[in-house]
Amino acid sequence: MSGSLVVVGTGPGKAELMTPATLAALAKATDLVGYGPYLDRVPVTRPDQRRHASDNRVELERARHALSLAASGREVVVVSGGDPGVFAMAAAVFEAVETGDPAWRALDIRVEPGVTAMLAAAAEVGAPLGGDFCAISLSDNLKAWTIIERRLHAAAEADFVIALYNPASKARPHQLARAFELLRAIKAGDTPVLFVRAAGTTEAAAIATTLAAADATQADMRTLVIVGASTTRRIGRWVSTPRGAKP
Ligand SMILES: C[S@@+](CC[C@H](N)C(=O)[O-])C[C@H]1O[C@@H](n2cnc3c(N)ncnc32)[C@H](O)[C@@H]1O
Repeated sequence: MSGSLVVVGTGPGKAELMTPATLAALAKATDLVGYGPYLDRVPVTRPDQRRHASDNRVELERARHALSLAASGREVVVVSGGDPGVFAMAAAVFEAVETGDPAWRALDIRVEPGVTAMLAAAAEVGAPLGGDFCAISLSDNLKAWTIIERRLHAAAEADFVIALYNPASKARPHQLARAFELLRAIKAGDTPVLFVRAAGTTEAAAIATTLAAADATQADMRTLVIVGASTTRRIGRWVSTPRGAKP
């Protein structure tokens, strides 16, 4: 098979946060496949390049479409937001390879890293991810809510800084409130909590509060929520977690 498939991430939004390796892959592609708003972030550099935009909910279908284009000899780039391996398309591509045409395993498939929302959000407010941290998606589209609660509980018990992706959507308005309730039972009320919206874009905005006062309605689909560890602190207008955790 002569085609190829590269999975890339556009970064959080600002053009400067797209990596040169991603730009090079995009420039070489004959076909771009992705969710419409992410494709819109990619500047048109070649009029002969085909764009296949789809809805956000059809990840596996989109991955299969990209793989069949590559198998037919096209140079395909699958476009995600942020990093393509973090709650995004790279895993869908490999799931499609695992369950699809055995010939797809011989394809030239590559993943280019991108700047994920968690890193862009942290940079907006200082260094909240300076110590050990974890990332949890609050979306229960692909996993049971009971699993999410178990992971939140374990992360809080282990005193990780917790980055919450997909904290809210119109279809899931109560989950972040429930997550805060669960975390409040384990962590101190004065633990710093950050709501960072549109991080790494010109519209970036951050709210710093505490776990006791955190109001779940302040998050939307473009927000990344960071809940600190016991060592996370506010220093002037910044928030930081020291690298060390010695008593
Ligand atoms: C399906 S996940 C995709 C994550 C993406 N692959 C990444 O690496 O950033 C979508 C969630 O990422 C977070 N997100 C994406 N871009 C963001 C940004 N610029 N600022 C804050 N949060 C963002 C939000 O929590 C959003 O609901």
